[in-house]
Amino acid sequence: MIQFPHNFLWGAATSAYQVEGNNSNCDWWKWEKRISLSDISGSACRHYELYEQDFDLAKALNHNAHRLSIEWSRIEPQEGKFSDDEIKHYQKVILALKERDIEPIITLHHFTNPLWFAEYGAWEHKKSAYYFLRYVEKIVETFSGHVRYWVTINEPMVYVYHSYLLGFWPPQEKSPLKGMRVTRNLLDAHIKAYRLIHNIYKNKKISPPLVSIAHNLQAFIPCRPTLKNRLSVYLKDKFYNFYFISKIIKSKTVDFIGVNYYSRSLIDTPSWSLRGLILDTCAKNHSALERNSLGWDIYPQGLYTLLLKLKKYNLPVLILENGICIDDDSRRWDFIRRHLQNLHRAMNEGLKVIGYIYWSLLDNYEWDKGFKPRFGLIEIDYNTYERKVRESAEKFSSVCKTGMLE
Ligand code: BGC
Repeated sequence: MIQFPHNFLWGAATSAYQVEGNNSNCDWWKWEKRISLSDISGSACRHYELYEQDFDLAKALNHNAHRLSIEWSRIEPQEGKFSDDEIKHYQKVILALKERDIEPIITLHHFTNPLWFAEYGAWEHKKSAYYFLRYVEKIVETFSGHVRYWVTINEPMVYVYHSYLLGFWPPQEKSPLKGMRVTRNLLDAHIKAYRLIHNIYKNKKISPPLVSIAHNLQAFIPCRPTLKNRLSVYLKDKFYNFYFISKIIKSKTVDFIGVNYYSRSLIDTPSWSLRGLILDTCAKNHSALERNSLGWDIYPQGLYTLLLKLKKYNLPVLILENGICIDDDSRRWDFIRRHLQNLHRAMNEGLKVIGYIYWSLLDNYEWDKGFKPRFGLIEIDYNTYERKVRESAEKFSSVCKTGMLE
């Protein structure tokens, strides 16, 4: 039996665009229609209207924390013009969590950008941090009394890779130069936002907030230990896994390390080019591991290995996302259980971990993959919007309640 600490944060996460529905004022909304994705986000889970019902379920499942994101394009629909109604909406959302004794963990940017910001060139623009900070100030000034945990940016490196290097997501660039510029601007935005958030709390004499990013870590495993593959793994670890996080740690703008962990990537790179070494994975489909419905390997020991690499930073870790999309729910509990075991192993080796947030509370809109992947502890019927608590959610709920894993 495994015992987690008494005041551990337990819960699940969502992001605005993936669950709320009708976020029609952002770049993804326009893009998913322009390229005719088979699934468009539409009403998503109608969480914008049904959040109270969803939080009741989270409460009944013994969650004491919940991660959600605020949709910038709702708050600032036009440059410099803020919507009081939308601010009020999120105020109600946050209060709904507080009333249920659920700790809100608020993400300020989760992949989507307001249309006006995208038209300026989004994170390529030299004033991108300035625009972001204006929105952050508005939000944090309003919600500081109710929020302790802030996540400035969700998975900056995933955003850079998908949107600026691999060309999968809007604006579908494949430009290392742009990728570097965007990384720099995101770094700048995070560092300034961290300082701004802390200053707001200080001026209001509120006890200091805990601010971080949600950082995606991937286990990179060479298929064969050739020099090229080992170099590729080294570079991927360096840029994808540790570049951003080490920069913000160096600038002392992180109070805990927010970790998102899902899977491993097998590496067998055909080319010696820098691009190939940094981006290529293994093209063959030869992994013997169990996979999720998107074909990602289930690799719980990767969480342990990566977490141990964070130990040297001497900062608490908060797991902000870990989850599986699968049609057969019985495999979900197994996934959670094995990841919790590996998390605990890292804790036994001296890593301080303050919580585990599963991705996701609800089935939701999995970006360019649409509604098919089912990540939720709670199933959504997209015809009726009915919610159904899955068995895995009940099993996880007993860990949330007791802190004990049998
Ligand atoms: C993202 C989520 C996404 C999840 C599963 C994370 O990279 O933050 O938005 O749904 O992974 O792919």
